[in-house]
Amino acid sequence: MRKLLLACTLGLIFLSIGFAAFQKPNWTVPDEEKQRKNPIAPSEAALGAAKQVFAEQCANCHGDSGKGDGPDAMMYDPGPADLTDVSHMSKMTDGEIYYQITEGRKPMPSFKKRLSEEQRWQLVLLVRSFAGAPAPPPPPTKKPDVPGEKKPEPPAKP
Ligand code: HEC
Repeated sequence: MRKLLLACTLGLIFLSIGFAAFQKPNWTVPDEEKQRKNPIAPSEAALGAAKQVFAEQCANCHGDSGKGDGPDAMMYDPGPADLTDVSHMSKMTDGEIYYQITEGRKPMPSFKKRLSEEQRWQLVLLVRSFAGAPAPPPPPTKKPDVPGEKKPEPPAKP
């Protein structure tokens, strides 16, 4: 009985350590959110609208050009993300950025209520333009194979 208790306690400790370690660095975004596509096509008008929203709602933290160097940036830990970081941003899908803007993560506020869906998708376009990196392909869907589509046979070895 004692051993069982010990095992349980140890298990709990490891679990919480693991949880703490995994909580921060990666922003967990559900797969189905990652797969969402931006319904708004890039255009001068959309980018212009997004720039205005960004200047009002985001620039105090993320900086005018998205570098994470806004006037309030130093008050926060973790600091605002550098949205011009190509290697980082090129790993994120449009749906992922949209989710991050929608939900926020402390200290970043949620913009679900403050901005319309259209405004948030426009911001995705703008955030993309900061890094100039193309969106990565969305993660594979759960559905295995598309019916009627055959995978090429591996070349037969002689
Ligand atoms: C109060 C300061 C603050 C405001 C305002 C703010 N952000 Fe953030 N933002 C942050 C912080 C801090 C992070 C990093 C959070 C983390 O990693 O846990 C972040 C992260 C992000 C990320 C994720 C980037 C990544 O590295 O995965 C995106 C995208 C983003 N912000 C966009 C925006 C947009 C667009 C707005 C305006 C609508 C905005 N933020 C407003 C502080 C802010």
